[in-house]
Amino acid sequence: MSNYLGILITSYLYNKTRKQIPTHECLSFYEDACNEYGLTPCFFRISDIEVRDKNIKALVKMENGEYSLKKLTKPTVIHNRGLGFQKKDQNKIELLQREGVIIFNECTRYQKIDIHNFLIKNKKISQHLPETHPANTNNFYHMLKRHKEILIKPNNGTLGKGIIKLTQKNNDMWLLMSMGKEQLFSVKRKWPKELETFISNSANIIQQRISLATYQGNPFDIRVSVQKNRYGEWQISGMVAKVAKKGMFVTNVASGGKCYLLETILNNDRSIDENKVKKDIEKFSLLIADQLSTELPTLADVGLDVGLTKEDFPMLIECNARDQRYSFKEAGLYNEWKETYFTPVGYAKYLMEKKDKGS
Ligand SMILES: Nc1ncnc2c1ncn2[C@@H]1O[C@H](COP(=O)(O)OP(=O)(O)O)[C@@H](O)[C@H]1O
Ligand SMILES: [Mg+2]
Repeated sequence: MSNYLGILITSYLYNKTRKQIPTHECLSFYEDACNEYGLTPCFFRISDIEVRDKNIKALVKMENGEYSLKKLTKPTVIHNRGLGFQKKDQNKIELLQREGVIIFNECTRYQKIDIHNFLIKNKKISQHLPETHPANTNNFYHMLKRHKEILIKPNNGTLGKGIIKLTQKNNDMWLLMSMGKEQLFSVKRKWPKELETFISNSANIIQQRISLATYQGNPFDIRVSVQKNRYGEWQISGMVAKVAKKGMFVTNVASGGKCYLLETILNNDRSIDENKVKKDIEKFSLLIADQLSTELPTLADVGLDVGLTKEDFPMLIECNARDQRYSFKEAGLYNEWKETYFTPVGYAKYLMEKKDKGS
């Protein structure tokens, strides 16, 4: 029996790794984790997998510390960290599963509205979700009546790009904010061109903006890494706060956001019971992961964006199925950063043992 753990990666990471060029991903954590579990990681792209071939060419770390291509038996358990699969790639994954290969996190990108629709079915969760609808004129009018702040964002977007914010000033007057620029307009008169474009794009969603709690005057949310572990159970691997750059309403690091320890943010406000807020976020995040599992059984590794209202009530903003993990590094949370790599390897070990037992 092979003791290889397959890690399916993007072509970008594959090419950098072959050329020994460092990236945001820390492959040496996979090496250390596999070492702990008696496994060896091997890295490949979706295009390297041949369904009926029992072998695969993958990158494996050599004694000299460099990655080199090696032909080996196709691993029976694969941790998916790939991205941007086409239909033919998805078919390939299905065929592999039929062959008995276990691929966890088989999909790494979901439409935000699909996640919303999965979660809203659970009554305990629905009150923690901002109202969300597909972008169109009817839904926009509906949202104008119900909320004072609205966001329009891409269903598939990442990194906080391509999001506009609308804030009601009085009656029909709204302020449109986009890429740091502001524009006042009346909803009863001609709408700004950009708003028209955003609303008529069916790849966008319209969402209630949560009035997020702030740190030093800037909104923040919390990245929560929730992963399946060595025992096949969901656990919290780390939490880190992301604070928006001054004047911005998105907290993404790629859009100028800064990462802080959650303690630093919560300690800033003396009225907060820090432990209770942390416990609430943890409980809530585990509930989200559990609910998603019922719809997406191979899901095993998510990075949630959890916002806090001014009353410290957790609200789910986004579920990332391919957490970039480096926000933990940015905040100096080395152990948590490492844990986000170790935990999926532990889960792979659990799956392998389960498979061997034939259960
Ligand atoms: N409904 C919302 N209420 C408040 N802030 C939000 C909301 N949606 C998004 N944001 C802010 O914008 C950021 C980016 O939005 P998100 O939905 O996570 O998309 P992306 O995929 O671009 O990260 C969030 O981390 C949060 O700071
Ligand atoms: Mg996000």
